[in-house]
Amino acid sequence: MTAALNVGALPATTRCDRTPAWTDLQAHFAAAGKGFDLRQAFSVDVLDAAKDNLGAQRFANFSQQAPHVFADLSKNLIDEQAESLLQKLAQQCGLEAHRDAMFAGQPINTTEQRAVMHFLLRQPAQQVGDKPQPWHDALAQVHSTLSSMLAYAEQVRADESITDIVNIGIGGSDLGPQMAVLALAEFSIPGKRFHFVSNVDGHELAGVLSQLDANKTLFLVASKTFTTPETMINALSAKRWFEAQIGVGAASKIARHFAALTTNLAGAQAFGISTTFGFWDWVGGRYSLMSAIGLPLAISIGAAGFKEFLAGAHAMDEHFRTAPAARNLPIRLGLLDVWYRNFHGFSSRSLAPYHSALQRLPAYLQQLEMESNGKRVDRSGAALPYGTAPVLWGEPGSNGQHAYFQMLHQGTDVVPLEFVAVKNASHSLPGHHEKLLANVLAQAQALMLGQSDAGGHRHFPGNRPSTLLLLDELTPASLGALIALQEHRVFVSGAIWSINSFDQWGVELGKVLAKDVEARLASGDVNGLDASTAGMLQKMRA
Ligand code: F6P
Repeated sequence: MTAALNVGALPATTRCDRTPAWTDLQAHFAAAGKGFDLRQAFSVDVLDAAKDNLGAQRFANFSQQAPHVFADLSKNLIDEQAESLLQKLAQQCGLEAHRDAMFAGQPINTTEQRAVMHFLLRQPAQQVGDKPQPWHDALAQVHSTLSSMLAYAEQVRADESITDIVNIGIGGSDLGPQMAVLALAEFSIPGKRFHFVSNVDGHELAGVLSQLDANKTLFLVASKTFTTPETMINALSAKRWFEAQIGVGAASKIARHFAALTTNLAGAQAFGISTTFGFWDWVGGRYSLMSAIGLPLAISIGAAGFKEFLAGAHAMDEHFRTAPAARNLPIRLGLLDVWYRNFHGFSSRSLAPYHSALQRLPAYLQQLEMESNGKRVDRSGAALPYGTAPVLWGEPGSNGQHAYFQMLHQGTDVVPLEFVAVKNASHSLPGHHEKLLANVLAQAQALMLGQSDAGGHRHFPGNRPSTLLLLDELTPASLGALIALQEHRVFVSGAIWSINSFDQWGVELGKVLAKDVEARLASGDVNGLDASTAGMLQKMRA
């Protein structure tokens, strides 16, 4: 199908720094934002002094339920005036029109002339009588691919002779499936092991291959383009290893032991893989987990679980598409990100999932945020005078508390922290979960309250912001919703910043230079190189 649907001109948007709201926000920041004190904010408003805790009104205003996710935003450095000006900023920038353009299938990825329709991957099939949509045909393709992919997943699940599934892919073709398979390990089919190989460093593949029996292994080669050098060399080495292990008759077994997940079906066929599951150029790599790229997860949790995962994401899509902006969680989070980046000047955000199964969530969200919004020009290519994507980083709690939280509490920089916690544990070990949840609340409290001490070293300045996202349980549906929430919040800040969140030209230069350097490493030719590169290349060859 063509990259963009023919659905009319893109809506006009205004760059954020050219809106009246931006100027008002600057003035509000100078007057009240800079000196805002969370402790004071919680000390003043009381809904009903007789029965409410201090700050009850603030908690009511700055918290909300969204599908599968309850969010407490009240411990952030924001007041009602700032939030209302941010909402105005969104209106004046044309955020909702831009969002609607995405949901209508317009080519909002303008540098590649592509629609951005990852939401379609979890959109239920059209029913008779539904309003005709421009992406009607694309949705039919989504459902037909989903059916064959889920049937294949069930077939692999039923096949006891396959014990190991190896996903070979990188970036969006690795981080999402790896994060989700780990997150939902509780729901995984027994008797199958999942491995993820991404790095061009052969130590990784060699380490995995050494644990495998070729006859019992399924390799999934995941690559949107089927040209990414890391994935291609890993796939080639895996295929050579498989052929060497099987010996005579290996060729006839490739169809059973290798499958490709890609938009480039011809590339996969040329590589020698005939079992393929496709997707489309309107799915960005970092937005592809719910396409065929999710096959490892579908094998792990089964077709029914995968459908619940999609349904959770769809519920969040609908919330983002239809909830009023003032109670729309992705919009509120995205606007908070803009407030912190462009007015407070915070250049980083930390993420602390308080659930060990969410250990790869920070890495996954790092690509989502930083590859989407790590841009220095607006949609027309003009250099931006303001900051864009923050550095996103983090580790599961409570581990982080014993590593870098020192800096969050007492360092010279303020780093907004986002906690993700899960109300109900799925294990029955007594005492653990209570302690885990107590730590989330205590850390958020400590960051906010601080502690005075004349001695200095024990002084905690406090007034440090945090957000708490709470899931009832970590399930396929709640994980799907959490992922869609993060996708849309990145959409919101990117739209306010007037950038194209859906291309990634910044990864190209390094790829091109690596080809040149690889040839030079082989030949020893250092002509024309800077002295540092030449010197180190020679050291590596010596
Ligand atoms: O690093 C750039 C990038 O294109 C990512 O956007 C993408 O997720 C990754 O490489 C892998 O690409 P592919 O799925 O085409 O192998």
